[in-house]
Amino acid sequence: MADFILKEKTRTFTGEITPPGDKSISHRAIILGSLARGKTRASGFLASRDTLATANAFRSMGVEVEIGAGRVEIAGNGLFGLEAPRKTIDAENSGTTARLLTGVLSAQSFRSTITGDDSLRRRPMSRVTVPLRSMGARISGEGEVLPLHITGSGLRGMDYRSPVASAQVKSAILLAGLYAAGRTSVTEPERTRDHTERMLRYFGVPVEMSGTRVSVSPGVEFSGTELEIPSDISSAAFFIVAALVNPGSEIMVKNVGLNPLRTGVLDILGEMGADISVENRRECCGESVGDLVARHGALRSVRIEGESVSRAIDELPVISVAACFAEGETVISGAGELRVKETDRISAMTGELSKLGAEIRETSDGMIINGTGELRGARCESRGDHRVAMSLAVAATRARGETVIGDAGCVSISFPEFFPLFETLVDPK
Ligand code: S3P
Repeated sequence: MADFILKEKTRTFTGEITPPGDKSISHRAIILGSLARGKTRASGFLASRDTLATANAFRSMGVEVEIGAGRVEIAGNGLFGLEAPRKTIDAENSGTTARLLTGVLSAQSFRSTITGDDSLRRRPMSRVTVPLRSMGARISGEGEVLPLHITGSGLRGMDYRSPVASAQVKSAILLAGLYAAGRTSVTEPERTRDHTERMLRYFGVPVEMSGTRVSVSPGVEFSGTELEIPSDISSAAFFIVAALVNPGSEIMVKNVGLNPLRTGVLDILGEMGADISVENRRECCGESVGDLVARHGALRSVRIEGESVSRAIDELPVISVAACFAEGETVISGAGELRVKETDRISAMTGELSKLGAEIRETSDGMIINGTGELRGARCESRGDHRVAMSLAVAATRARGETVIGDAGCVSISFPEFFPLFETLVDPK
């Protein structure tokens, strides 16, 4: 799909949806399932371009990965069972694939090369290569970007203090730590999503967590298991914000992963006065899950900074859309990480929402949005970034006149069914 066109209409979002599986957890299911011995079966698996890149990487290292509708089955060959890849590993657009795989590959006894698409080849890899090299990894490349050539070597554990709050960095080091001599610890400036830690424990691998420090020890072989992957709160967020800003809307979003390090979006929207409730909260495979009900209502501006930034990092684009409809000035700061995502999301959201008439400006590490409650339809561009495309689609539901989103097909990176589902829930009046 090239362009997505939304005509001006009064819309309400009503009904029930179950968004696709959590992307972060789906990647980890393939990675840990591949390193486990025997079969791992996961329901709720997200089959999207990003997670297929991870699946193909492990397939090329001799692991059987069978993907069906909302499920995956992995025949793991054990911690030491990967084979030298037959070709260059292509992480495509996926930072999670590139960073986590660099951790795994650093510890193997074979040589490998990992690369990615134009966007990923511009994103920083030094955040993983620097710590991995100090564990003894042999990684070479031009500059600190993909492609990287990795020559497997014996690693030693280390106690790493990460300068960046990044679950991808933490996970890459912990995965390498499964093979390193001695204990490996990572201390983060702020806690980030802990899906790797939780899933390792679910597979029976001991992980010590204390404050912002997490540690693993090497050599623990583990067996395949059954996993249930919840829906992705990052995908749910688009429908939640669409319901919040369109009068008369009320939606239920079912089976959403509510890991406390991912629920910043609910806290921020709650602070903005949003009417969102959690029902049927439960635990599943080491993760919290629940159903969310979101209703339209008045929103007020908010200051977003500190640890709520990392707890809502992927939702800040759609939160910036909510801020256009909130009374007062919303200030997002300390979010410089947005500049090194699939695109520079600070520049993308300010540039593209401005085309729709938003009063938004960028700062070095965030955005300032004056909520005017009004947008006007225009042509805007996804810039090849799935979350920018979906955020703009939400903005377009309240724009006067027609909105065209260029290069909207990139939603398949994380949410291939986004547009059909979006159309189903929209109830034009
Ligand atoms: C992810 C971690 C985050 C997030 C990304 C997925 C993960 O990236 O933005 O969408 O699955 O570990 P960083 O580690 O770069 O913060």
